[in-house]
Amino acid sequence: MTRMKHKLIAVASALFMALAMTACGSVEPASAPSVADSDKAAVQEKLNKQDSNTETTTDQTEDTSPESDAATDASPTETEPASDGKNILVAYFSRADENYNVGTIDKGNTQIAAEYIASELGADSFHIETVTPYPADYDDCCDAAKQELADKARPELNGTVDNMGQYDIVFLGYPIWWGDMPMAVYTFMDSYDFSGKVIIPFNTHEGSGESGTCASITSYLPNAQVLDGMAIQGKTAQEFSADTQQSVRDWLDGLRL
Ligand SMILES: Cc1cc2nc3c(=O)[nH]c(=O)nc-3n(C[C@H](O)[C@H](O)[C@H](O)COP(=O)(O)O)c2cc1C
Repeated sequence: MTRMKHKLIAVASALFMALAMTACGSVEPASAPSVADSDKAAVQEKLNKQDSNTETTTDQTEDTSPESDAATDASPTETEPASDGKNILVAYFSRADENYNVGTIDKGNTQIAAEYIASELGADSFHIETVTPYPADYDDCCDAAKQELADKARPELNGTVDNMGQYDIVFLGYPIWWGDMPMAVYTFMDSYDFSGKVIIPFNTHEGSGESGTCASITSYLPNAQVLDGMAIQGKTAQEFSADTQQSVRDWLDGLRL
Protein backbone atom coordinates (compact mmCIF):
# COMPACT_ATOMS: atom_id res chain seq x y z
CA MET A 1 0.00 0.00 0.00
CA THR A 2 1.38 3.39 -0.90
CA ARG A 3 2.29 6.10 1.53
CA MET A 4 -0.44 8.23 0.01
CA LYS A 5 -3.09 5.59 0.56
CA HIS A 6 -1.99 5.16 4.17
CA LYS A 7 -2.39 8.88 4.65
CA LEU A 8 -5.90 8.97 3.23
CA ILE A 9 -6.88 6.02 5.36
CA ALA A 10 -5.54 7.82 8.39
CA VAL A 11 -7.52 10.88 7.41
CA ALA A 12 -10.66 8.94 6.65
CA SER A 13 -10.50 6.81 9.75
CA ALA A 14 -11.17 9.90 11.78
CA LEU A 15 -14.43 10.42 10.02
CA PHE A 16 -16.37 7.29 10.19
CA MET A 17 -17.42 7.76 13.75
CA ALA A 18 -19.16 10.99 12.88
CA LEU A 19 -19.92 10.11 9.32
CA ALA A 20 -23.35 10.67 7.88
CA MET A 21 -24.38 10.98 4.26
CA THR A 22 -27.66 12.66 4.99
CA ALA A 23 -28.91 16.15 4.28
CA CYS A 24 -27.63 19.24 5.95
CA GLY A 25 -28.79 19.82 9.48
CA SER A 26 -29.48 16.21 10.31
CA VAL A 27 -25.98 15.25 11.32
CA GLU A 28 -23.66 16.28 14.10
CA PRO A 29 -20.57 18.35 13.30
CA ALA A 30 -17.47 16.27 12.79
CA SER A 31 -15.18 16.26 15.76
CA ALA A 32 -11.43 16.63 15.43
CA PRO A 33 -10.10 13.41 13.95
CA SER A 34 -8.19 10.91 15.98
CA VAL A 35 -6.03 8.83 13.73
CA ALA A 36 -6.69 5.17 14.42
CA ASP A 37 -4.24 3.08 12.45
CA SER A 38 -5.57 -0.05 14.13
CA ASP A 39 -8.74 -0.06 12.09
CA LYS A 40 -7.28 0.49 8.64
CA ALA A 41 -8.79 -2.61 7.11
CA ALA A 42 -12.29 -1.71 8.17
CA VAL A 43 -11.79 1.85 7.02
CA GLN A 44 -10.55 0.74 3.65
CA GLU A 45 -13.56 -1.52 3.29
CA LYS A 46 -15.85 1.39 4.04
CA LEU A 47 -13.98 3.60 1.61
CA ASN A 48 -14.44 1.00 -1.06
CA LYS A 49 -18.15 0.64 -0.40
CA GLN A 50 -18.97 4.24 0.17
CA ASP A 51 -20.75 6.37 -2.39
CA SER A 52 -21.27 10.07 -2.16
CA ASN A 53 -24.87 11.15 -2.29
CA THR A 54 -24.40 12.54 -5.77
CA GLU A 55 -22.01 10.03 -7.20
CA THR A 56 -23.06 8.72 -10.52
CA THR A 57 -21.80 6.22 -13.03
CA THR A 58 -18.16 6.33 -13.90
CA ASP A 59 -18.35 5.17 -17.49
CA GLN A 60 -18.47 8.61 -19.00
CA THR A 61 -15.07 10.01 -19.79
CA GLU A 62 -15.85 12.84 -22.17
CA ASP A 63 -14.15 15.99 -20.94
CA THR A 64 -16.56 18.87 -20.89
CA SER A 65 -14.93 20.77 -18.05
CA PRO A 66 -15.09 24.54 -18.35
CA GLU A 67 -12.05 26.05 -20.04
CA SER A 68 -12.11 29.28 -18.07
CA ASP A 69 -9.96 29.52 -14.98
CA ALA A 70 -11.15 33.02 -14.26
CA ALA A 71 -12.70 31.94 -10.97
CA THR A 72 -9.24 31.66 -9.42
CA ASP A 73 -8.94 35.45 -9.22
CA ALA A 74 -9.03 36.94 -5.76
CA SER A 75 -11.85 39.32 -6.69
CA PRO A 76 -15.20 37.81 -7.52
CA THR A 77 -15.52 36.94 -11.17
CA GLU A 78 -18.57 38.71 -12.49
CA THR A 79 -20.95 37.09 -14.90
CA GLU A 80 -24.45 37.95 -15.99
CA PRO A 81 -26.82 38.21 -13.01
CA ALA A 82 -28.87 35.09 -12.20
CA SER A 83 -32.06 35.07 -14.21
CA ASP A 84 -34.44 35.41 -11.28
CA GLY A 85 -32.74 38.56 -10.06
CA LYS A 86 -31.19 37.05 -6.94
CA ASN A 87 -27.54 37.86 -6.52
CA ILE A 88 -25.55 34.69 -6.09
CA LEU A 89 -21.92 34.16 -5.15
CA VAL A 90 -20.09 30.86 -5.47
CA ALA A 91 -17.20 30.97 -2.98
CA TYR A 92 -14.97 27.96 -2.77
CA PHE A 93 -11.68 26.65 -1.44
CA SER A 94 -9.90 24.20 -3.70
CA ARG A 95 -6.32 23.01 -4.02
CA ALA A 96 -4.60 21.80 -7.18
CA ASP A 97 -1.26 19.87 -7.16
CA GLU A 98 -0.87 16.33 -5.85
CA ASN A 99 -3.92 14.73 -4.26
CA TYR A 100 -5.29 11.34 -3.37
CA ASN A 101 -6.82 9.27 -6.16
CA VAL A 102 -6.25 11.85 -8.91
CA GLY A 103 -2.48 12.32 -9.09
CA THR A 104 -1.14 15.80 -9.79
CA ILE A 105 -3.86 18.06 -11.11
CA ASP A 106 -3.95 21.57 -12.56
CA LYS A 107 -7.34 22.46 -11.17
CA GLY A 108 -8.82 21.34 -7.86
CA ASN A 109 -11.83 19.03 -7.74
CA THR A 110 -14.02 21.47 -5.86
CA GLN A 111 -13.15 24.23 -8.29
CA ILE A 112 -14.49 22.14 -11.14
CA ALA A 113 -17.82 21.72 -9.35
CA ALA A 114 -17.82 25.41 -8.40
CA GLU A 115 -17.38 26.45 -12.02
CA TYR A 116 -20.32 24.34 -13.10
CA ILE A 117 -22.51 25.89 -10.42
CA ALA A 118 -21.46 29.44 -11.32
CA SER A 119 -21.94 28.75 -15.00
CA GLU A 120 -25.40 27.18 -14.54
CA LEU A 121 -26.61 30.09 -12.41
CA GLY A 122 -24.76 32.98 -14.01
CA ALA A 123 -23.30 33.63 -10.57
CA ASP A 124 -20.16 35.46 -9.48
CA SER A 125 -17.39 33.32 -8.05
CA PHE A 126 -14.60 33.77 -5.55
CA HIS A 127 -11.68 31.43 -4.95
CA ILE A 128 -10.79 31.30 -1.25
CA GLU A 129 -6.98 31.20 -1.24
CA THR A 130 -4.50 31.42 1.59
CA VAL A 131 -1.61 33.86 1.60
CA THR A 132 0.68 30.94 2.37
CA PRO A 133 -0.03 28.19 -0.14
CA TYR A 134 -0.42 24.61 1.03
CA PRO A 135 2.38 22.20 0.08
CA ALA A 136 2.10 20.71 -3.39
CA ASP A 137 3.08 17.31 -2.01
CA TYR A 138 0.01 15.39 -0.79
CA ASP A 139 1.56 13.99 2.39
CA ASP A 140 3.06 17.34 3.34
CA CYS A 141 -0.30 18.99 2.77
CA CYS A 142 -2.01 16.41 4.99
CA ASP A 143 0.48 17.17 7.74
CA ALA A 144 -0.01 20.93 7.39
CA ALA A 145 -3.79 20.60 7.39
CA LYS A 146 -3.73 18.30 10.40
CA GLN A 147 -1.66 20.82 12.35
CA GLU A 148 -4.00 23.67 11.38
CA LEU A 149 -7.01 21.66 12.51
CA ALA A 150 -5.36 20.87 15.84
CA ASP A 151 -4.49 24.54 16.29
CA LYS A 152 -7.93 25.74 15.13
CA ALA A 153 -5.88 28.00 12.87
CA ARG A 154 -7.42 30.78 10.86
CA PRO A 155 -4.94 31.18 7.99
CA GLU A 156 -4.82 34.58 6.35
CA LEU A 157 -6.59 34.81 3.02
CA ASN A 158 -5.69 36.48 -0.24
CA GLY A 159 -8.18 39.02 -1.53
CA THR A 160 -11.67 39.84 -0.38
CA VAL A 161 -15.17 39.72 -1.79
CA ASP A 162 -16.13 43.22 -2.83
CA ASN A 163 -19.46 44.19 -1.36
CA MET A 164 -20.56 40.91 0.16
CA GLY A 165 -23.75 42.75 1.11
CA GLN A 166 -25.03 42.54 -2.45
CA TYR A 167 -25.35 38.74 -2.35
CA ASP A 168 -28.54 37.02 -1.22
CA ILE A 169 -27.24 33.50 -1.72
CA VAL A 170 -23.72 32.19 -1.14
CA PHE A 171 -22.73 28.76 -2.34
CA LEU A 172 -19.84 27.67 -0.13
CA GLY A 173 -17.57 24.97 -1.54
CA TYR A 174 -14.67 23.07 -0.02
CA PRO A 175 -12.92 19.69 0.10
CA ILE A 176 -13.16 17.57 3.22
CA TRP A 177 -9.87 17.77 5.07
CA TRP A 178 -9.47 15.53 8.09
CA GLY A 179 -13.22 15.23 8.41
CA ASP A 180 -13.78 18.95 8.46
CA MET A 181 -13.52 21.98 6.22
CA PRO A 182 -10.08 23.42 5.58
CA MET A 183 -9.41 26.03 8.24
CA ALA A 184 -9.29 28.67 5.49
CA VAL A 185 -13.04 28.23 5.06
CA TYR A 186 -13.51 29.18 8.70
CA THR A 187 -11.39 32.28 8.07
CA PHE A 188 -13.70 33.07 5.18
CA MET A 189 -16.80 32.64 7.37
CA ASP A 190 -15.19 34.90 9.99
CA SER A 191 -14.55 37.60 7.39
CA TYR A 192 -18.09 38.66 6.48
CA ASP A 193 -21.53 39.18 7.92
CA PHE A 194 -23.69 36.36 6.61
CA SER A 195 -26.80 37.37 8.58
CA GLY A 196 -29.94 36.84 6.56
CA LYS A 197 -28.12 35.19 3.68
CA VAL A 198 -28.85 31.76 2.32
CA ILE A 199 -25.77 29.55 2.46
CA ILE A 200 -25.65 26.46 0.27
CA PRO A 201 -22.71 24.16 0.99
CA PHE A 202 -21.11 21.85 -1.51
CA ASN A 203 -18.03 19.72 -1.12
CA THR A 204 -15.80 17.12 -2.66
CA HIS A 205 -14.24 14.22 -0.78
CA GLU A 206 -12.80 10.75 -1.19
CA GLY A 207 -15.20 8.75 0.89
CA SER A 208 -16.37 10.91 3.76
CA GLY A 209 -19.36 12.57 2.16
CA GLU A 210 -20.15 15.91 3.74
CA SER A 211 -18.83 14.64 7.08
CA GLY A 212 -21.05 16.81 9.24
CA THR A 213 -19.82 20.05 7.69
CA CYS A 214 -23.31 21.34 6.89
CA ALA A 215 -24.14 21.16 10.57
CA SER A 216 -20.83 22.83 11.37
CA ILE A 217 -21.68 25.72 9.05
CA THR A 218 -25.16 25.98 10.57
CA SER A 219 -23.61 26.28 14.02
CA TYR A 220 -20.90 28.66 12.87
CA LEU A 221 -23.28 31.00 11.04
CA PRO A 222 -26.39 30.96 13.25
CA ASN A 223 -27.91 34.00 11.56
CA ALA A 224 -27.76 32.53 8.08
CA GLN A 225 -30.11 30.00 6.56
CA VAL A 226 -28.08 26.94 5.58
CA LEU A 227 -29.69 24.70 2.96
CA ASP A 228 -29.03 21.09 2.01
CA GLY A 229 -25.61 20.60 0.55
CA MET A 230 -24.15 18.53 -2.23
CA ALA A 231 -21.26 16.12 -1.72
CA ILE A 232 -19.46 14.67 -4.70
CA GLN A 233 -16.43 12.44 -4.95
CA GLY A 234 -13.32 14.38 -5.96
CA LYS A 235 -12.22 11.84 -8.53
CA THR A 236 -15.63 11.99 -10.18
CA ALA A 237 -15.44 15.78 -10.38
CA GLN A 238 -11.92 15.59 -11.78
CA GLU A 239 -12.36 12.79 -14.30
CA PHE A 240 -16.04 12.42 -15.17
CA SER A 241 -17.12 15.85 -16.27
CA ALA A 242 -20.43 14.98 -17.87
CA ASP A 243 -21.57 13.05 -14.80
CA THR A 244 -20.51 15.86 -12.53
CA GLN A 245 -22.23 18.50 -14.62
CA GLN A 246 -25.44 16.49 -14.61
CA SER A 247 -25.27 15.96 -10.86
CA VAL A 248 -24.82 19.68 -10.36
CA ARG A 249 -27.76 20.45 -12.66
CA ASP A 250 -30.04 17.96 -10.92
CA TRP A 251 -29.08 19.30 -7.53
CA LEU A 252 -29.61 22.92 -8.54
CA ASP A 253 -32.98 22.04 -10.07
CA GLY A 254 -34.00 20.46 -6.77
CA LEU A 255 -33.07 23.59 -4.84
CA ARG A 256 -35.64 25.62 -6.81
CA LEU A 257 -33.81 28.88 -6.22
C1 LIG B 1 -5.14 17.50 3.59
C2 LIG B 1 -6.19 16.57 3.03
C3 LIG B 1 -7.07 15.93 3.88
C4 LIG B 1 -8.07 15.13 3.36
N1 LIG B 1 -8.95 14.54 4.21
C5 LIG B 1 -9.98 13.82 3.71
C6 LIG B 1 -10.94 13.25 4.56
O1 LIG B 1 -10.89 13.38 5.77
N2 LIG B 1 -11.95 12.54 3.99
C7 LIG B 1 -12.05 12.38 2.65
O2 LIG B 1 -13.00 11.76 2.20
N3 LIG B 1 -11.16 12.93 1.81
C8 LIG B 1 -10.13 13.64 2.30
N4 LIG B 1 -9.24 14.22 1.46
C9 LIG B 1 -9.48 14.16 0.02
C10 LIG B 1 -10.15 15.44 -0.49
O3 LIG B 1 -11.32 15.74 0.23
C11 LIG B 1 -10.54 15.29 -1.96
O4 LIG B 1 -9.42 14.92 -2.70
C12 LIG B 1 -11.12 16.57 -2.51
O5 LIG B 1 -11.80 16.29 -3.71
C13 LIG B 1 -10.06 17.62 -2.78
O6 LIG B 1 -10.68 18.76 -3.32
P1 LIG B 1 -9.86 19.92 -4.02
O7 LIG B 1 -9.14 19.30 -5.20
O8 LIG B 1 -10.90 20.89 -4.46
O9 LIG B 1 -8.94 20.50 -3.02
C14 LIG B 1 -8.20 14.97 1.95
C15 LIG B 1 -7.29 15.59 1.11
C16 LIG B 1 -6.28 16.38 1.64
C17 LIG B 1 -5.31 17.07 0.71
